[in-house]
Amino acid sequence: MPPATVEVHHTSEQAAQALRADVIAGLTATPKWLPPKWFYDDRGSELFEEITRLPEYYPSAAEREILAAKADELAAITEATALVELGSGAPDKAHLLLRALTGAGPLREYYPLDVSEHALRETAHDIAAAYPWLRVHGLVADFTSALTVPDGHRPRLVAFLGGTIGNLLPDERAKFLESVRNTLDTGEWLLLGSDLVKDRDTLVRAYDDDRGVTAEFNRNVLNVLNVELGADFDPAAFDHRAEWNEQEEWIEMRLRATRAMRVTLPALNLVVDFAEGEELRTEVSAKFRRNRVAAELTAAGFSLHSWWTDDEARFAVSLARAAG
Ligand code: AVJ
Repeated sequence: MPPATVEVHHTSEQAAQALRADVIAGLTATPKWLPPKWFYDDRGSELFEEITRLPEYYPSAAEREILAAKADELAAITEATALVELGSGAPDKAHLLLRALTGAGPLREYYPLDVSEHALRETAHDIAAAYPWLRVHGLVADFTSALTVPDGHRPRLVAFLGGTIGNLLPDERAKFLESVRNTLDTGEWLLLGSDLVKDRDTLVRAYDDDRGVTAEFNRNVLNVLNVELGADFDPAAFDHRAEWNEQEEWIEMRLRATRAMRVTLPALNLVVDFAEGEELRTEVSAKFRRNRVAAELTAAGFSLHSWWTDDEARFAVSLARAAG
């Protein structure tokens, strides 16, 4: 069996630099905010995996249902020879796709991309062991800032699943989709997972579960700042909040200071004051409608080929083709 190879494009120094810039920008702004990508240290990635198994967090199960039902059709339509998975995370979705793409199709290369080197190595080795004939080459990369789609066999299929596209704000989303389009040749493929607009109660419960796993995941970003920047946040002094923003059609996660606090971040020479009740926005998770997905894909130079949802129409997987 050929071992998986892993290439590091995004070094820990680059990540540290990006974290410092984000924290300075976000914690000196009014209102305060932090980008959601900093949730995912080893503990955060573990907590997210736990979230995906919660009964309230329907997106994972709904997406899995779609991929299980449509993977063979996907393989027949695309005849993809290379699969590039952005934000690969745990290998379960890759297995679903690869089983179909290698079984019913001509796939021979798998390129997982992730910012987390640890998660990436695990996925790459797991997949390489299960598909000995497959070339597996992982890339540690931050695809939201600089996207590199590996130069594999054509046609390539780029998969961006889980609904993570919802973490990007509308202008970031437009830029991101354009950058994906620009690295593809006409006729190549994008598989996009997006969570759908639905009733407020279902949405809020998915981001505020009974066991408090999401609350711990949310507070974990403060631990990341404590460890990486020597900050002295007291995570227990922040309440977890999840709100549905009806206007923007996105879920917002915030951390609410339960008392006035002064936080020092020695690595940044920064002192930050929180008033009692002040909120720090930690994540936006946008929810979509078919028309908006189709319009945004078209604007970026794709055309929507297939729109697949689960039985309850909670989540959608879109197959789009790079237009000429
Ligand atoms: C990994 C970005 C898809 O937005 O639903 C889960 C992250 N945040 N619970 C999402 C998340 C809170 C998740 N994504």
